[in-house]
Amino acid sequence: MTSASDFNDRMLSLGLARVSEAAAHASARLIGRGDEKAADQAAVNAMRDQLNRLDIAGTVVIGEGERDEAPMLYIGEEVGTGNGPAVDIALDPLEGTTLTAKDMPNALTVIAMAPRGTMLHAPDTYMEKLAIGPGYPKDVVSLSMSPRERVEALAKAQGVKTSDITVCILERPRHEAMIAEVRETGAAIRLITDGDVAGVIHCAEPEITGIDMYMGQGGAPEGVLAASALKCMGGQMWGQLVFRNDDERGRAAKAGITDLDKIYSRDEMVRSDVIFAATGVTNGSILSGVKREPNYIETETILMRSKTGSVRRMIYRNPR
Ligand code: FBP
Repeated sequence: MTSASDFNDRMLSLGLARVSEAAAHASARLIGRGDEKAADQAAVNAMRDQLNRLDIAGTVVIGEGERDEAPMLYIGEEVGTGNGPAVDIALDPLEGTTLTAKDMPNALTVIAMAPRGTMLHAPDTYMEKLAIGPGYPKDVVSLSMSPRERVEALAKAQGVKTSDITVCILERPRHEAMIAEVRETGAAIRLITDGDVAGVIHCAEPEITGIDMYMGQGGAPEGVLAASALKCMGGQMWGQLVFRNDDERGRAAKAGITDLDKIYSRDEMVRSDVIFAATGVTNGSILSGVKREPNYIETETILMRSKTGSVRRMIYRNPR
């Protein structure tokens, strides 16, 4: 494992921002074109190209899929020049392929980096997720509580009524009962059609986003990325892998997971210092999307380090 002192997160973070910016630039040409695959491929190519310029010995632990499924940025792929610290890389070159294809809000390019051996190797399954922002007592809500109990506990901790709480949930048939139960408490629900990394990040800045809590099942890889972001911004998160069949259980075993029922806290998903960058592709409540003006392209990137809790918002303008 890379020692904490080898992981020069301060120097590496700008490189990470360049990687997410490049992916956003590349996919921006495909916003609103109805072609999810092309948008994703453009982001993947650009992200890989930029990653390979960084002086790191990187291993993709959260990527585009397993080696036989994804030609690039597959799990286990070595990235970077090889000269530098050994690091784990979690990435989603385009988080919200459908959002991009349909020009809907909150599509992001996302990447996180941590010392080698410190990130959960989440298999490509679902994960039951629960997240809240900073400033609450530890474990004020939990995955073992019902949706109603979570809303009531959070309202109590805030000293407000349940009707003052807003919960973000992915709009999916599998969440119908959860949505109905949350509505019964009087809480508001922000339904999102895709993009639960952004959904979780919303909890860290409730004063800007209006979201107090995220809950529901989404991709497990996205769960580790969201945990990385919350570790930098503050906030609590829990995740439990969800398996629909033996193939998915097999994927977990391949990733080295033995306790299939384990509930992972944020810091069990990301066990050491982490740096996180995300660039807006389409306009959203966290980041502006890529602006393509006649003479320049502009992106907004959020760049964060857990060691310091620093959160930078960077505008990058590049001539066309
Ligand atoms: P893609 O960008 O890969 O399309 O993923 C978008 C997303 O909405 C994730 O944010 C979320 O975790 C997952 O898909 C949910 O999966 P599903 O669409 O199967 O419910």
